[in-house]
Amino acid sequence: MKQVKIHDKNFQLFIPYEKIRATIEKMAETMNNDLKEKNPLFLCILNGSFMFAAELFKRISLIQTEISFVKLASYRGDKTSGQVKQLIGLNEVIEGRTVVVLEDIVDSGLTIENIQGQLKLLNPREVLVATLLLKPDALIRDVKLDYVGMEIPNDFIVGYGLDYDGLGRNLIDIYSVANE
Ligand code: IMP
Ligand code: MG
Repeated sequence: MKQVKIHDKNFQLFIPYEKIRATIEKMAETMNNDLKEKNPLFLCILNGSFMFAAELFKRISLIQTEISFVKLASYRGDKTSGQVKQLIGLNEVIEGRTVVVLEDIVDSGLTIENIQGQLKLLNPREVLVATLLLKPDALIRDVKLDYVGMEIPNDFIVGYGLDYDGLGRNLIDIYSVANE
């Protein structure tokens, strides 16, 4: 499928699955080397990262490793804090551990900065970040990214777990919004 219409927008094929898979294979190879002896806890940030996390984690060949799934939930804070996003679903004790955050995409960097901040309060040994995609031109925060699969232009994309208003997550390839 070269083109797909979701809600009101047309998208065109941008990254075929074979390229996504090859990218993730390379990331896993690097991580298998780097994370030996570290007993890493992978943290998949739902919803967008579920496909990336599954594809990566089955290629992690360490025995001493775990994965957990968390979500950022928005709620209204008090008047001073305004809109707050809280990390929910983390049941593991991360104190003293190597945590590897798995993100689908880093855009402005605000989400990953927020997650790193919340995790660091729990005294992990280190927080590493692995993102399948990065939009360097959209980045407004100085965040440390340890593993980056691919850099892409600042266009809206869907597929492979990423959605446009709830739809498109099931597409096996990644599509980019068409310029019309
Ligand atoms: P950030 O906080 O601006 O870095 O945005 C990160 C989050 O926004 C990601 O985890 C995605 O869920 C979402 N996001 C950013 N860019 C896109 C996109 O092009 N398509 C779909 N979701 C996106
Ligand atoms: Mg996301």
